[in-house]
Amino acid sequence: MTRLSVNINKVALIRNARGNDFPNLVQFAKDCERFGAQGITVHPRPDQRHIRYDDIPKLREVVTTEFNIEGNPTREFVKLVLDNPPDQVTLVPDAPNALTSDAGWDTITHADFLRKVIQEFKKKNIRVSLFVDPSEELIQGAKDVGADRIEFYTGPYAFKFEDNKEMAVGEYARCSKFAAQIGIGQNAGHDLNLRNLSFFTSRMTDLLEVSIGHALVVDALYQGLHNTIQAYLNSLDV
Ligand code: PXP
Repeated sequence: MTRLSVNINKVALIRNARGNDFPNLVQFAKDCERFGAQGITVHPRPDQRHIRYDDIPKLREVVTTEFNIEGNPTREFVKLVLDNPPDQVTLVPDAPNALTSDAGWDTITHADFLRKVIQEFKKKNIRVSLFVDPSEELIQGAKDVGADRIEFYTGPYAFKFEDNKEMAVGEYARCSKFAAQIGIGQNAGHDLNLRNLSFFTSRMTDLLEVSIGHALVVDALYQGLHNTIQAYLNSLDV
């Protein structure tokens, strides 16, 4: 069974638009859990345009499911994570002013850097996942530097899904089998939604978790948060 982690960045974006504390992020995270989410994901970016660094300790205190912090491991980010140890940290090579993550790690070129930073998190018993594109070589690289899991970057899958879903999923399905064989855990995220999620999940081998933000928050505007989370959980029950 694949677990659902709700990325609450977009909710922070709405809060920040008015400069006060509405909607309250802690309450939103608790409600996601109450409605069945099995994890909460946040992705603080250097400009703090959605999640702010000072949100993290408050969320760490209340999240009772899996707490996952994503981001580029700058010194500031590493300190934030070590000071508020989540269950999982997902390392993403996004540029400081990137609109959103748009590529995974080159785990070969950045092997030395990744190995060092992964060790820092492991000392605190934090599970480490690396955001990667579907490539056997890069997945092997993730395993070699000591990552516990990979998170497949599913943006290209979601984009191609509309034209040809078999073609869209092919590389991911193949790499998923490979990841299962070499014994590295698998997560996935980016641009997953109620149309493309269950097909993706059904083709993967041992997909442990998806993290979903943008589409889920948009769906919640129409259907409400409780119905939306239930709909995503149903899509994962394949
Ligand atoms: N995974 C990573 C690494 C991301 O950067 C994001 C977006 O913040 C997601 C998953 C979730 O993507 P989406 O908001 O499109 O569901």
